[in-house]
Amino acid sequence: MNILKSFLFRAAAVRVALGQFCEHQWEGKFADHEVDGVPYLRARQDLAPPPLEIRPLIVNGPSSNRIDLIFFGDGYTEEEKDKFFDDALFLATNLTDGQTFVDILPVINFWAGFSPSVDSGIGTGGQPLDTVYGLYRVGTELRGVYYDKPQVARAACQSTDACDYPILLGNDPFYGGLGGTFTVVTASPNNGPAVLRHELGHSIIGVGEEYDGGTVYRGVNSARSPDSVPWTQWYTNPSTEPKIQRTNMPIQAYPWTLLNTSRSWSQTFTSAGTYDTHLLQFSVSGMTASSDLRVEIDGKDVGWEVNPAVGVDRFIYNMKIDEALAPGEHELTFTLLNEEIEGSAQLCNLEVLEYGNEAEFDSEPRYCGLYPTFSATNRTTYRPTNNLCLMRDMYSPDFCNACIEGLWLSLLGPLSLIENVTQAAQLTGLTKVTVNLLPLAEFRQVPNGHDEAYAILWYGADEDVVLEEWTNSTSALIGPDVTEFGVEVKFWTEQVRVDSNGVLVQKERFKVEQPGQ
Ligand SMILES: *[C@@H]1O[C@H](CO)[C@@H](O)[C@H](O)[C@H]1NC(C)=O
Ligand SMILES: *[C@@H]1O[C@H](CO)[C@@H](O)[C@H](O)[C@H]1NC(C)=O
Ligand SMILES: *[C@@H]1O[C@H](CO)[C@@H](O)[C@H](O)[C@H]1NC(C)=O
Ligand SMILES: *[C@@H]1O[C@H](CO)[C@@H](O)[C@H](O)[C@H]1NC(C)=O
Ligand SMILES: *[C@@H]1O[C@H](CO)[C@@H](O)[C@H](O)[C@H]1NC(C)=O
Repeated sequence: MNILKSFLFRAAAVRVALGQFCEHQWEGKFADHEVDGVPYLRARQDLAPPPLEIRPLIVNGPSSNRIDLIFFGDGYTEEEKDKFFDDALFLATNLTDGQTFVDILPVINFWAGFSPSVDSGIGTGGQPLDTVYGLYRVGTELRGVYYDKPQVARAACQSTDACDYPILLGNDPFYGGLGGTFTVVTASPNNGPAVLRHELGHSIIGVGEEYDGGTVYRGVNSARSPDSVPWTQWYTNPSTEPKIQRTNMPIQAYPWTLLNTSRSWSQTFTSAGTYDTHLLQFSVSGMTASSDLRVEIDGKDVGWEVNPAVGVDRFIYNMKIDEALAPGEHELTFTLLNEEIEGSAQLCNLEVLEYGNEAEFDSEPRYCGLYPTFSATNRTTYRPTNNLCLMRDMYSPDFCNACIEGLWLSLLGPLSLIENVTQAAQLTGLTKVTVNLLPLAEFRQVPNGHDEAYAILWYGADEDVVLEEWTNSTSALIGPDVTEFGVEVKFWTEQVRVDSNGVLVQKERFKVEQPGQ
């Protein structure tokens, strides 16, 4: 993408994203920030980039008019080069193969840049290994993955045209990641795609969280009050909105504690007893059998079963219980049953949500209305759908409509709908002008499941008079005495309902090239 446009666009985007962080936390030096008024990624520096072997993964057009995402490998030795390219392609493919980013795929490219690391893997206990970008975990917990050498990552990014969104890919098989200037992800087969698409949601759309227990709630999917909802155009049932879906969060905790068999982890919470059903959500790691752990509410086994696909990796479990919690105090208990996994079996986080009855809480997945979200300090904001969006449910491959609209607007903002205009002088003295457009709508190589269209208007010498006969044609014939012409392109997709900045419209004028020049 054009550097100046990219810079202006980023300068605007950075302000929105500042201070945002995830459960996989990023803050301070890891947050997007500016150096002397210039976004960190664009700031000048003297450091030489690491030796890079860059290969295309999924390339849909020239970097000058596409948004380029590039993986930079960390903790891959020279011998693991093939593994790096395989891991990167696995992630890029997963995010675009019929899901998540499939609709916007024609406007993005994926690349992978390999630099050998001395050590294999990523650091733990706050200590990076000897790797290119110095990725590490703070403890051993499967949560954030941080980087020690942002200057090296920036030098790598600045050494190529193909770096709008740099992604540091750590050679580690477990859950972990980070949003911010550099999106961080690991090669976890079960969690890598989920973490990457969620972090890219932060980075590209500029939205905060939708899950409970975060600290940053902002952007196109977040409302502070029912009076300031940015997705009213997506309401399923506008005539009944704003109607706050009835739900409450009586307990939430991030224990990140190693479990042991000698003592259970337990905590009490209070229910008003006025709701109809409840949900227990928790995440654990280091457990491979349902017999490793017992989970109880008020001494009653909730019937937890392990997801056998995840191995010892972290996984988030949701257990819907179609009963009301009685008014008063309740106890939530996690008991480790398998002594052999002491020291690795971990309780990461948990929450209980209560829901009103069917008239009070719409649990239809695609229903778009006003759903309360509870922050780390139990502050309430609102989100568009219950659990549809991957900004809430890490294992959902989908964005909600409000986020997809935001995605289109963010990606197309710095791009040009018009790739180029070519001219050919005709023997008749006329000039045939042809506009090449971003490959969307009828120009997609692979059709998608959404209605899209381009409207094309041509203008002659008078910049306000439409040359009607060429409307919606990619070519027009311009008269012999005309020195200038114009073209106006509007991209329409049912996935964008409000475009207040006119991102989906472009109008340009061009000089007629004189024959023989
Ligand atoms: C993406 O990866 C997940 C596991 O992380 C897998 O369950 C899913 O089938 C994959 N989807 C595609 C389209 O590759
Ligand atoms: C959050 O606030 C609600 C409403 O005040 C309360 O019912 C609930 O127990 C609180 N939850 C937590 C975890 O503090
Ligand atoms: C066992 O786990 C409990 C609950 O998390 C904790 O309070 C206790 O300190 C742990 N004991 C040991 C020996 O680690
Ligand atoms: C114009 O853009 C098209 C893609 O839409 C590309 O194939 C072609 O090479 C470009 N032509 C010039 C002269 O840049
Ligand atoms: C041009 O295409 C747009 C988008 O499909 C359509 O709405 C419009 O009616 C078309 N105009 C003409 C004159 O065919």
